[in-house]
Amino acid sequence: MRRLAYFFDGYTPNMLYGRDAELAQIDRLLARARTGQSGSLSVCGEVGVGKSAILDHAVLVADGMRVLRGTCIESEAELPFAGLHLLLRPVLDRLDVLPGPQADALRGAFGLADVPRTDRFLTGLATLTLLTELADGEPTVCTVDDAHWLDQASATALLFAARRLDAEGIALIFGARDGGLVCGSAGIQVLRPGALDHEASARLLAEVAADLAGPVRDRIIEQSGGNPLALIELPAALTAEQRAGRMHPQTFHIGTLPVSSRVQDIFQNRIEALPERTRLLLLVAAADDTEDLGIVLTAAGLLRTSIGDLAPAEQARLVQTGDGTLRFRHPLIRAAAYQSAASSHRIAAHRALAEALGAAGQPDRQAWQLAAAATGPDEAVAAGLERAAEYARRRGGYAAEAAAYERAALLSPDRPQKGRRLALAAAATGAAGQLRQAGALAERAGYLVDDAQVLAALAEVQAAVEFEIGSSGRAAASLLAGAAGVAAVAPDLAAKMLVEAAHEAIYGSAVQTARRAARDLAQMDASPPYAAFVPAVAGLASIMADELSAGVREIRQTLSDLRQLNAADPLASLPPGLRRLAAVCALTVGDDQGAHDHAATLAEECRRQGMISLLPHALQLLAAAQQFLGLHADARASGMEGLRIACDTGQEHRAAHLSGVLGRIAAIEGDETACRALAEQAATWRSAPAVNSADHSLSLLDLGAGRPDAALARLTDLTARPGRHTLIAIFSLPDLVEAAAASQRPELGGPALARFEAFSLAAGQPWAAAVVMRCRALLGQDTAVSFEEAVRMHSDGGRPFERARTELLYGSWLRRNRRRADARGQLESALDIFSRLGAAPWAARARSELRATGVSQHGTATPPDDGDLIGRLTPQELQVVRHAAAGLSNREIGALLFLSPRTVGYHLYKAYPKLAVTTRAQLARLVLPVM
Ligand SMILES: Nc1ncnc2c1ncn2[C@@H]1O[C@H](COP(=O)(O)OP(=O)(O)OP(=O)(O)O)[C@@H](O)[C@H]1O
Ligand SMILES: [Mg+2]
Repeated sequence: MRRLAYFFDGYTPNMLYGRDAELAQIDRLLARARTGQSGSLSVCGEVGVGKSAILDHAVLVADGMRVLRGTCIESEAELPFAGLHLLLRPVLDRLDVLPGPQADALRGAFGLADVPRTDRFLTGLATLTLLTELADGEPTVCTVDDAHWLDQASATALLFAARRLDAEGIALIFGARDGGLVCGSAGIQVLRPGALDHEASARLLAEVAADLAGPVRDRIIEQSGGNPLALIELPAALTAEQRAGRMHPQTFHIGTLPVSSRVQDIFQNRIEALPERTRLLLLVAAADDTEDLGIVLTAAGLLRTSIGDLAPAEQARLVQTGDGTLRFRHPLIRAAAYQSAASSHRIAAHRALAEALGAAGQPDRQAWQLAAAATGPDEAVAAGLERAAEYARRRGGYAAEAAAYERAALLSPDRPQKGRRLALAAAATGAAGQLRQAGALAERAGYLVDDAQVLAALAEVQAAVEFEIGSSGRAAASLLAGAAGVAAVAPDLAAKMLVEAAHEAIYGSAVQTARRAARDLAQMDASPPYAAFVPAVAGLASIMADELSAGVREIRQTLSDLRQLNAADPLASLPPGLRRLAAVCALTVGDDQGAHDHAATLAEECRRQGMISLLPHALQLLAAAQQFLGLHADARASGMEGLRIACDTGQEHRAAHLSGVLGRIAAIEGDETACRALAEQAATWRSAPAVNSADHSLSLLDLGAGRPDAALARLTDLTARPGRHTLIAIFSLPDLVEAAAASQRPELGGPALARFEAFSLAAGQPWAAAVVMRCRALLGQDTAVSFEEAVRMHSDGGRPFERARTELLYGSWLRRNRRRADARGQLESALDIFSRLGAAPWAARARSELRATGVSQHGTATPPDDGDLIGRLTPQELQVVRHAAAGLSNREIGALLFLSPRTVGYHLYKAYPKLAVTTRAQLARLVLPVM
């Protein structure tokens, strides 16, 4: 393993001065790890401030703990998983204990096996699980130094793991300069050692350069700006006379340069004093990214230098060798050696390295070296990089794949080749989660490409970018165009794109786009699962055009065809994009159970196959269905998990939509603060449909709090707005009717009722039919009969919250009409349901109505009563408990919920006393109510 401390002129200070607070923080982190709690920390700051020294301290005091350490090097930043591999190399023999897909993800990442492309976050989960395994029974310290040079794939994996650390006994510490992926990454605590104060600087100087004359010492302290590296290096560059103060120190005239430049200059001076061949050898080493002494010497031999030329550099303590490696003692020495060389020498060094790497069977590194040596477009070099990109892709290193393709494109002399490679770079960049860059690459590629398949691939990239961070309408339009181009040669791809276009159109009610998708899909001869969606896509278009009843019927046709397909072959699974649309379709027609089942299946597939990027969307749909079904605790757990992953994976729109679902629950519960905060969050993400859903929640909040005027204004705007969210516009219609009636403006409710009635007639859902009757009653259409009908229809099931609202409104009406006994029955049932849902303001209204009927005592609605086991658990505990009750092991649950098995154990340990059980067997017998 690499050494983390650099020794300058043979001197490393005996102790760290002026860092008591920082070291105490490290000590605390380790002490917590020893008691089984995990934590992560990034030590961030400028060159030489003492980051590595602090990491070294962590290793030094890690007595009795397992230690894993790795240091990244600059040139590895383009090699996928180089950093992670370095860190985990000593423990790879433990891979077998990981769940299959996770072990495969790491094997693929490290090139140990040829496995199919995996989700980029699965490697993060696998890292977490592997670290957990290591920490089992042996608390573990992991240090990753110079993490600003972590390749992106490793950084994504490690940060994903770091954010999920909880109860494993792991201390994960990064050392990094600012500006990389690690410092400032959300969810990781930062430790920022600043400049040493005057006293600490003086003590350090007294140790490393005791002979300095007073004024020289003060000058160095001032010039170093409290930077320990400068404090050590500046005096080392002085002559004896300068040290004694007899001569002015020349080195200091570059006072305004940052410390790193000053120190690099010192190193450069030292390099320039070396013999020419030694300098050439150092240049080869600096241009190399293997640190492999053999490779460096082979390449150097091609330039007529040899190992003998290394000695002066070693004597000057610029490099060190050992274990077959050649390393610079500090990254700035490498930079100085490279930057001070003439460009013709650099090119020669890269060429020589390429030859050495080719002979050593490392073609991807060879390709990069040839690229570094290229002085202009060169097809052979570009083709080599393309092969390197393919290799990176097989390992799931999307960022590295993207970098290689982009560079290959740059070096391609031929225009279509350039376009094709740029398109591949765009797709890989999108897969690596860098959506903005992916969009920019795709745009550049678009000008160069005319091949239909490549254009289709570009359209998919552009759509994915637009859907997550731009406009869903533009996403859909781009898919339409791409599908049209490719329909003749790749019909299934075209069908997939058209279905996606229709899905994307929902989010902005883009009628024309949806209509065209429907038409094109109907005209082509798509294979069965896609063909089944022909009516649904047409139906979605109809719904957007406000032809609710036709639209709903068409969508139901698809849902029933899917049931038949499923009955014929229960094991056949739908492609994820179709499964997602099936869930959306079911939600659209008010089939909450169907939506629940599709979304749950999709979520399950995402978990099992490691499609972590798609999981937040699956959880959003699941949470929405759970909420409609009245399973609020589960909905909250799904929604929060989805939100957490969406935030971790940079899916801004998804996070906004998930906030929308959670906001609706908050609105029902009357949690004004949470509801407003979530709405604000949705607004900051600037996703129009998400703002729609936030508005819907806010209007529900107003209705619950007895502010119908405010609700009415919001809902009128929401249902009429162009670019509205198709589903939300439908489901808010009954709210609008209620708000209109309560504001004494029934004329405004009429059109909304008519629309909802058209929807309900076609949907055939009892709850919707009941709500229609409620709306009629509210608008004075045969009030008594309508209310009675409504209540009767509700008893056929569905949406308990709607049922309770009907009962409340009916009960209130009965009371006002002096039918107190009848009123009580309705109100008591409403109060019961509202209480179970935790719908506090609604329960309060039911209670006050009940009091008005003469009933005096009624229990409080929230918090949930003692019989409510679920209410005692946190959302995450509930998820864990449900799986444990179903017989899954901690490891299996961890794999499903993207938590470490230890953290699963910790949640169970917290949950058991709350549920008054002590064993898994008791847990399994416990009936956890699904309301
Ligand atoms: N507080 C301190 N007291 C004494 N010596 C220190 C202190 N902090 C750092 N040093 C010494 O200063 C030198 C530079 O520190 P270090 O290598 O830790 O810096 P760094 O922040 O890791 O820099 P880089 O960004 O280049 O990696 C090392 O020799 C280290 O031992
Ligand atoms: Mg360092």
